[in-house]
Amino acid sequence: MLIKNCRMIIDGEEQFKDILVENEKIVSIEDDLSGVSSDEIIDAAGNYVISGVIDPHVHMRDPGMTHKEDFTTGSMACAKGGITTFFDMPNTVPNTITEEALLEKKRLHEGKSYVDYGFWFGGSKADNHDEVKKVQDKVIATKVFMNVSTGNMLVEDEKVLEDIFKNSKLVGVHAEGEMIPKAISLSEKLDVPVYLCHLSTKEDVQYVREAKKKGLKVYGEATPHHLFLNVSDVEKNPLLRMKPELKTKEDNEALWEGILDGTIDTIGTDHAPHRIEEKKAKLTFGIPGAENSLEMMLKAVRCDKISLEKLMKIMSETTAEIFGLKNKGKIAVGYDADLVIVDMTTEEIISQENVISKCGWTPYEGLKKGGKILTTIVRGNVVFKDGKFINKIGKEVI
Ligand code: DOR
Ligand code: ZN
Ligand code: ZN
Repeated sequence: MLIKNCRMIIDGEEQFKDILVENEKIVSIEDDLSGVSSDEIIDAAGNYVISGVIDPHVHMRDPGMTHKEDFTTGSMACAKGGITTFFDMPNTVPNTITEEALLEKKRLHEGKSYVDYGFWFGGSKADNHDEVKKVQDKVIATKVFMNVSTGNMLVEDEKVLEDIFKNSKLVGVHAEGEMIPKAISLSEKLDVPVYLCHLSTKEDVQYVREAKKKGLKVYGEATPHHLFLNVSDVEKNPLLRMKPELKTKEDNEALWEGILDGTIDTIGTDHAPHRIEEKKAKLTFGIPGAENSLEMMLKAVRCDKISLEKLMKIMSETTAEIFGLKNKGKIAVGYDADLVIVDMTTEEIISQENVISKCGWTPYEGLKKGGKILTTIVRGNVVFKDGKFINKIGKEVI
């Protein structure tokens, strides 16, 4: 594959390049590769070409709740949103807390996804540390719910928490409020890196900032909804309920500061689809995110809140580094050709009518996109182009 006329940011400078892909990898990035013959030529037509987004935090609901989402529809939401790799959370039914459930999930999902994927393994209140230990080379990392959330996976017992941490290469936590310093201290005591999902307050960011100053292996994630939405939006749209809940405008700004000073490492969507009828009928925590994450984050690039280069770091490069994906996260020779072509001149509006996810709604209804995703490429295969889904090429990243 040869991708022509790519507008790229290289070392802070806008440049126009051609990208040559062979055997799924980028093999050359040059000013002009028009002399090279290739089976497939794509014209980026001067649009931005950016590194495919890695979303470390999605709930694909498969198995067990496939009326909300299944692996295929969830992966379509990703492809449409410029996400080329996602990591699926364990609060499916059954919970992914045994090796057996994990292997079954892997079998079930083979050949079902348009983009690449990995699996989180769940820590369980019944102390499944033997299982946790067994699967470490088959999963992204261990996920532990330290506060109540959708899915009944809360782990509270100190000894159980320690057992799970000790047997993990990295622990991702759903932790809110005082559970954040608790997770950081467990990580310090047991010398296991901790990844704090969906930071939502100024205080959360400060805990992570201080831990990093001490040199601890602590990583922070922010979601687009905690960056762009706050309590004033919930007043207008009662569907905007999730854990952690939306906070204040001041918290939005503290999260942005955390991104700019390096306290926050990654963007995860916490794509948590519940069908719109379910959301309307009863208080249900979780909102979708995969489809609009990059489109929303590009709004911040458009208004100079963040550079495109920095955005690619937190949505791709750093995520790959934290979770050990060696060939992903960068547009560079030798890396997987996971690429997204984006039109940054669009004035398009985000609308529920175009939602691909089975949930059937978007928290960003009516907002202007920061960019329009034209084409999504996974390892040199076009998976999404001009609104069409093309190839269920996705495979597991481990
Ligand atoms: O609001 C949430 N919904 N927060 C979570 O942590 C889980 C998620 C879900 O799975 O619905
Ligand atoms: Zn969570
Ligand atoms: Zn989550």
